[in-house]
This record gives sequence, C-alpha cells and structure tokens, in this order.
Amino acid sequence: MNTYVTGATIKQLRESRNLTQTELADRIGVSSKTVSKWETAKGLPDIGLLQPLAQALGISLIELMNGEHIVNKNISANMLRSQFYVCPVCGNILHTLGKAVVSCCGITLPALEAEEADTDHTITVENVEDEHFITVHHPMAKQHFISFLAFVTSDRIQMVKFYPEGNAQTRLQLRGMGHLYYYCNRHGLFRKRYKNNIKKASA
Ligand SMILES: [Fe+2]
Repeated sequence: MNTYVTGATIKQLRESRNLTQTELADRIGVSSKTVSKWETAKGLPDIGLLQPLAQALGISLIELMNGEHIVNKNISANMLRSQFYVCPVCGNILHTLGKAVVSCCGITLPALEAEEADTDHTITVENVEDEHFITVHHPMAKQHFISFLAFVTSDRIQMVKFYPEGNAQTRLQLRGMGHLYYYCNRHGLFRKRYKNNIKKASA
C-alpha cells in the first residue's frame, strides 16, 4: 500500500452517499468534529478505523486507500473491456474484465494503457494449416523482452507466456475478430486489432 486515505476522498465518498458528517461519525463511533478534521486535512483516521470507515462508506479498504471507487457499468463483463496489469516487482500478470483496484507486492498497479504497435514492437500473423503462427519481432534479452501475448475477443482470452532468451513466437487459433496484446517489460503494452479473414497481417 503506497498511499493513505485522504480527507478529500472521505468527503467525496461521504457526500456521494448523501451522508452528513454526523451520520458518518455515528456509524464508526467518532464525533462529527473528528470527521470534519479528517476532511479538512487537520487529522487522519487511526489505522484501526480504516476498515469500519470503508464499511460505512460501502467500499473496500483498498479502494478507500487509493481514493478510487470502482463502479463498473460493464456489468456483463465484456471481454472487450479487458484490462491488463503487470507487477513491476515480481512480473505477475493480472487480467480483469473491467476496472478494478489491483495490488501486488504492496504496489497498486495501474491498468496498462495499450499503444498501437510501433516500429520496435511489430507483430506478424501467418496462417499455418488451421492455426496462426504469431511472431513478435523484438529482442528477448534478460533485461528487455516480451513477457506475454494475449488474443482477446468478446468471449475468450488466449494467453501465452514468453520468457527471456526464448522466442516471442506461438501458434494459436485466432477465431473471429479481436485484439492481440503483447507486453514489453520496458516499453509497455501494445495492441493490434486482428480479424480472422485477413490471411496475413503485419504491423
Ligand atoms: Fe521493447
């Protein structure tokens, strides 16, 4: 956890729930003056009050700490709203179907913003029998490599993990229309739209 709850977050959450300072104070057993102090940055809630405070505001503790309350309108969890998160410490890869507050190794991870493929991170897809042979043209050195590739359509994800000193190549069946995502540990997430009726595509 790299942040602590702020007064602005408490105020904003309290007001969005139509609670008065007194009502919030009553729910967690403090005085309204205490809540007022928190909201005006004249004090911070004791760590032991964070869980009751989160509960009173109807959010998770991690959301309270980050000041980010996630409400997904994407209630059908459409795969096309996929988000990827990569932990810079351990390399963990997380995938969600909508926005989330994701934490790993004590760090709150931002959702990676995918860029269009650039000249140093190109990808080619070739038809091989009934499959597709996919190559990310990029070094696979220990310090700079492609960590994973994923093909995401509206109803499925296929993910392949790559390792340094290996090849950034794989065979997959790419059905329908979707996006190929691939992640460079130095340059971030790249994305290329792919439609199966294209015999050969190159970025
Ligand atoms: Fe790179």
